[in-house]
Amino acid sequence: MANTATIVGLQWGDEGKGKIIDALAAQAKMVVRFQGGGNAGHTVVVEGVKHVFHLVPTGILYPGVQCVIGNGAVVDLLALQAEIDGIRAQGISLEGLKISDKAHVVFPYHQALDEAREKLRQGKQKIGTTKRGIGPCYADKAARTGIRVADLYRPERFADRLRRALDEKNAVLHHLFGAPPLEFEPIHAAYLAAAEALEPYVTDCSTLVLDALDEGQEILFEGAQGVMLDIDHGTYPYVTSSNASTAGVAVGAGVPPAAVQQVLGIAKAYTTRVGAGPFPSELHGEPGERLRELGHEYGATTGRPRRCGWLDLVQLRYAIRLTGTTGIVLTKLDTLAGYGPIQVVTGYRKDGLDLAAPPAQEADWDGIELVTETLAEIPEGFDYAGCKDYAQLPQAARDYVEFVEAKLATPVVMVSTGPQRSALIQRGKPVFAV
Ligand code: IMP
Repeated sequence: MANTATIVGLQWGDEGKGKIIDALAAQAKMVVRFQGGGNAGHTVVVEGVKHVFHLVPTGILYPGVQCVIGNGAVVDLLALQAEIDGIRAQGISLEGLKISDKAHVVFPYHQALDEAREKLRQGKQKIGTTKRGIGPCYADKAARTGIRVADLYRPERFADRLRRALDEKNAVLHHLFGAPPLEFEPIHAAYLAAAEALEPYVTDCSTLVLDALDEGQEILFEGAQGVMLDIDHGTYPYVTSSNASTAGVAVGAGVPPAAVQQVLGIAKAYTTRVGAGPFPSELHGEPGERLRELGHEYGATTGRPRRCGWLDLVQLRYAIRLTGTTGIVLTKLDTLAGYGPIQVVTGYRKDGLDLAAPPAQEADWDGIELVTETLAEIPEGFDYAGCKDYAQLPQAARDYVEFVEAKLATPVVMVSTGPQRSALIQRGKPVFAV
């Protein structure tokens, strides 16, 4: 039995990964975030209380689970401190939290640049970022002008790098975007204070995770966003700036690729997307709005309404192959109950030809025709959240799950039927040996 499981989003994020990680963390010793930053919003509902995590790994609700923010994540120390304060105020211990000393730090100038660039983009050029400074921070990392967590504990080095970064960013903000410059002193002081408060959590996380692997501990790698937002394999340029697919684990947690054993691909029973970019199965007008209201589809980080549409098996097949998904977790099946007959996208056609996978180039999405199949309505009035036995689900709900599984040639190992921790039906073997 494998000791690690990687949780990745198979669509455009917001698939309900938080709830699944929470469910699996009960049997894990460690949960590791390997990419992304405060753009993520992982929601967990426990005994009627809603928790939304942005940077802190979702396992924090379990005492004794080590919760690692890996080197591949980008960390706004001020936002992290605020998140930690909020978690502590709920009486939850943060003893297990670890922050990689190699993670890059998001500064106010990253957010200012993110915002200024979005403002300048017109019409279809707008990406619709979360404005958390994620893209500019990863850009600095690649340009080797970034500041890492460890730098904050070397005051002279930090001051020097911050000053140089601000000189460059202020010039760009002022001359290119007409935005006000940012002052050195308040940023310097606030980030030094946050670094001091967070120092007990900061460590060499790669070694920590490698040691846990050597000891055969159960480890969850917690993906944020989803495959279609992956910087390399998503719908570029309408993507986030990190590798949200499985490939991000090795780089972002500091482990060998073989550390990725089982991969749980999380997919909603329909599709949503926040922000701009291709979304072929999108439902416009009233049908889309109805799905949004039924599924409460509003962003956990920005509150923006999510675009909603049918399940897209072409997109999912691509994501499954790319991530090496060994088991699918289908979430929010209950949301479709009572919606009416359900359509599923089973093929893309363009210029009279079948497309095997989503197009790689932005322009090639135009003019795609969808091939769909219609499945029977999933009935209302059944206690989906209370159902523990797959065989008890209404026939139409089971038909839907089995249709997806057969078309994707990958087992659906869990079905989520409500926001509560308990609303989860296990179909396959448990992820970890118990
Ligand atoms: P960024 O990550 O803030 O740069 O945003 C880039 C794109 O990714 C935008 O379309 C965002 O809406 C989307 N995005 C980023 N994080 C998430 C997430 O956690 N869930 C869903 N969409 C996200």
